[in-house]
Amino acid sequence: MIKVGVLGAGTMGSGIAQVAATSGHQVVLVDVNEPQLEKAKQSLTKVLMRLVEKGKYAHNEANDILRRITFSSDMNDFSGSGIIIEAIVENLSIKNEVFRNLEQIVDEDCILATNTSSLSVASIGAVLTKPGRIVGVHFFNPAPLMPLVEIIPAVQTAESVLNAAKNLIDSWHKVTVITKDTPGFIVNRVARPFYGEALRIYEEGIADFATIDWAMTELGGFKMGPFTLMDYIGNDVNYTVTETVFAAFYYDPRYRPSLTQKRHSEAGYLGRKSGRGYYNYAEGVELPSPTKDEKLGLEIRDRILVMLMNEAIDALFLHIASKKDIDLAMTKGVNYPKGLLQWTEEVGLEWVLAKLTALQEEYGEDRYRPSPLLKRMVKNGQKVF
Ligand SMILES: NC(=O)c1ccc[n+]([C@@H]2O[C@H](COP(=O)([O-])OP(=O)(O)OC[C@H]3O[C@@H](n4cnc5c(N)ncnc54)[C@H](O)[C@@H]3O)[C@@H](O)[C@H]2O)c1
Repeated sequence: MIKVGVLGAGTMGSGIAQVAATSGHQVVLVDVNEPQLEKAKQSLTKVLMRLVEKGKYAHNEANDILRRITFSSDMNDFSGSGIIIEAIVENLSIKNEVFRNLEQIVDEDCILATNTSSLSVASIGAVLTKPGRIVGVHFFNPAPLMPLVEIIPAVQTAESVLNAAKNLIDSWHKVTVITKDTPGFIVNRVARPFYGEALRIYEEGIADFATIDWAMTELGGFKMGPFTLMDYIGNDVNYTVTETVFAAFYYDPRYRPSLTQKRHSEAGYLGRKSGRGYYNYAEGVELPSPTKDEKLGLEIRDRILVMLMNEAIDALFLHIASKKDIDLAMTKGVNYPKGLLQWTEEVGLEWVLAKLTALQEEYGEDRYRPSPLLKRMVKNGQKVF
């Protein structure tokens, strides 16, 4: 079994180290920040002991997992690893410098993987003398709990490296999907309207936060409504992802960020972590009640849903991933109740196209343009699957 190196012992890196060690690998977890390493060690110990209490592992199994992880502040300890997974700050020049140094330490055939969410894998791998060894492996937070990992070959990635990375992460009991190296990969691209269209509906005064959340959970079957979810993710984090995706798509209006979210973020209304976001989480404060008007609720649900379906079909149109992987990504990465392509098939392609066309006519905005593939399929009487 190969030795696994993980660089960055923050939220993602320590989770990834746990996943690899649980699957039996020797893991070296490196961070430049010593207190952060200590923190990672303590929190991993706590997590594993909680799993022992819950009966998931015997005491000795949990201890073995912990013993397999070496905590270090020296990248030289990566020597002899079969793969390094980088999970440091989201900054291209820092990542480039780190990858340049990594190549001096590891063997010729060591895979160099990045967990980046928003940078291109191509730009991270560009500094390597052997660029065929770069690959994206995008885990979701928390890594030990979320089943999905997006595997991203860059234009430089060797096919053998892609296959080896996928096989390795499959062996960690993760659900892997392969996606093109384009902004947001699958999940962070296709999910944008869940937030963006909900915010737009609010901005138009159609409904308040609680009513939109109610429509998406009660009538849409989603586990969390968009505002509850944004409060959970953090408005600062969610806003930054939207802004990054928007810019990376050359300002395609479909991904335009929302001023409402920007203002909430600016005000420090970040969500649960700051005690207040769209909702007030202070003790004793009751959450607002939705207006349970079914007609209104269905209008909200359908508007957000067709925008999501259009994104999924457009991702297929642009060969971002296979049909199967687009659906898996949304059910396993963000817990959607159904794969969006499957769902489109169920409600009918004509219905989705008619809704989008009506929105585009009403608003005259490019934001609502139906994917050419949707139009083509309807015209030819085709199905998705
Ligand atoms: N947090 C998420 O939900 C999430 C999800 C998927 C992917 N990501 C991506 O994962 C990466 C890490 O994100 P995070 O949330 O874990 O960040 P984090 O801030 O929790 O952790 C980053 C860690 O990297 C360390 N670090 C910084 N520079 C370093 C260097 N040169 N060498 C070694 N260690 C260094 C820091 O000390 C810190 O401990 C980012 O690329 C991010 O985009 C984050």
